[in-house]
Amino acid sequence: MTQDNANMSDKDAGSGDLFNTAAGWVLFAAALGLGLSILSGKYFHADNPERPETLGYIIEGVEETGSGPAEISFAEALASVTPADGEKAFAKCAACHSVEQGGANGVGPNLYGVMGAKFGHNPSFGYSSAISGAGGNWGWEEMNQWLANPRGYIDGTSMGFAGLSKIEDRAAIALYLNTFGSNIPVPEFVPAAAEEEAEPASDEAAEAGAEEGAAEAEATSEETAETAAS
Ligand code: HEC
Repeated sequence: MTQDNANMSDKDAGSGDLFNTAAGWVLFAAALGLGLSILSGKYFHADNPERPETLGYIIEGVEETGSGPAEISFAEALASVTPADGEKAFAKCAACHSVEQGGANGVGPNLYGVMGAKFGHNPSFGYSSAISGAGGNWGWEEMNQWLANPRGYIDGTSMGFAGLSKIEDRAAIALYLNTFGSNIPVPEFVPAAAEEEAEPASDEAAEAGAEEGAAEAEATSEETAETAAS
């Protein structure tokens, strides 16, 4: 009998532990759920304020088929903004960059003449090896991708800037930069409807293709010469 009693209380104690453990897991799961919902609330909410503005601009009377806003081309974005818009947007960069001729380097290099110049264009600035070793020129598309996501575009850059999500902001800043000692030609934006009739454009493309071919041929003959020499 006494043994039975002892056994019973053992059992009771055992199920009590089990209950505590179970209750602990329930509490943990609840806390996790709450934490996740707070986090996701933050992330998804953060995007909302910008979305309608972007959508309103892009689709203008066209029914959207895909999910998410369709991104316009950089040429179209460039056609929709002015250097003055860029001057305003450049406020986000001015903490680290000056742009006037002879302006001082800050955390980042003075950007005078950067459009069209090579990556790491300012000899008085100590660039990261990521930029100085990347090899390339700041054309419109390069600047677009860089400003969208600097670290995504040039892995390991020391530019501590997350990027600009709006293509119009990136276009405006590129136009603004282009007015400081660069003035490289702005790509022409041809709306899709007009494109079909624009015969000369395809002639130009053919010409460019021919030029590329010639350059390639030259490179090949150089290579051949080198091979012959060695
Ligand atoms: C927190 C400081 C900081 C901010 C803000 C910042 N940059 Fe930079 N930027 C840098 C640094 C540092 C570098 C050099 C990066 C390297 O060497 O890897 C750089 C490099 C650059 C370059 C390459 C220059 C060259 O000579 O090749 C461009 C272009 C540029 N930034 C544009 C911008 C623009 C436009 C903005 C605003 C949208 C901006 N940056 C915001 C710090 C900053």
